[in-house]
Amino acid sequence: MAKKTINDFAQMVENGEKIVYLTAYDYLTAKMEEKAGVDMILVGDSLGMVSLGYDTTFPVTMDDMIRHCSAVRRGAPNTFIVGDMPYMSYQTSNEQAIANAGRFIKEAGADCIKLEGGGPMIAERIKAIQQAGILVMGHIGLTPQLMGQIGGYRAQGRSSAAAMKIVNEAKAVEAAGAFSILVEGIPTAVGKAITERAGIPILGIGAGSYTHGQLLIYADMVGMYDNFTPKFVKKYANVGEVLVNAFKEYTAEVRQGQFPIDDEHTYKMSDAEVKEFLAALDK
Ligand code: KIV
Repeated sequence: MAKKTINDFAQMVENGEKIVYLTAYDYLTAKMEEKAGVDMILVGDSLGMVSLGYDTTFPVTMDDMIRHCSAVRRGAPNTFIVGDMPYMSYQTSNEQAIANAGRFIKEAGADCIKLEGGGPMIAERIKAIQQAGILVMGHIGLTPQLMGQIGGYRAQGRSSAAAMKIVNEAKAVEAAGAFSILVEGIPTAVGKAITERAGIPILGIGAGSYTHGQLLIYADMVGMYDNFTPKFVKKYANVGEVLVNAFKEYTAEVRQGQFPIDDEHTYKMSDAEVKEFLAALDK
């Protein structure tokens, strides 16, 4: 299947077809997601928690993101890939933001970058990156890189005033030139209002059913990441349990001498060569 472009996404919105979006951080997972036919892959800075074992996304670096994003590109050569700008890779200046966004395209083969926030400074960064010729996806609502300011990892826009602020941020991000916006952790009514008023694809994670597409963190939806599971996650598999059981069985078999079985799992040598080899050892 050919890689989708922004024209395909616009057409999908026009036709009322949902855009399917999942995170991936490595070659193997990306390969399986492409096989499954997802439309878009996000190499999120959730990499920090899911793959690198940090408690937050803050320690993730550009080099971490580039390494993992290139692995995802190798696994999913025909899928639209979004590279997530990590903490402090775009906040300092437009120049810094353009240079780091460019690394995603040039070094990691991403199709687009995503950055968090909806205030005037972020609108300026979006405009600058977009004017440098790079596709930008906005990200508003629950924005983990602004955890301190939004009061922790919690749903946003639950009062009328807070909801209006997010609707206005969506308008500002669109006006700044984003080709799409991801809305995270907001009530269904707010997701619906943003989607109905937008002229670009609105993708949601924990934002209800009305958005043009849905994103989940793959490790949540297959039951691999169990440190914390947000309310909006549906578990489609329990891969974590399957893996732990396989590791346990292997551990027991190695300890009991049941693995490997020499005729089944090892390389063969002709009887004549074995004989010659044993004789050589005794010389
Ligand atoms: O890093 C990420 O995976 C994200 C999602 C949580 C939206 O930005």
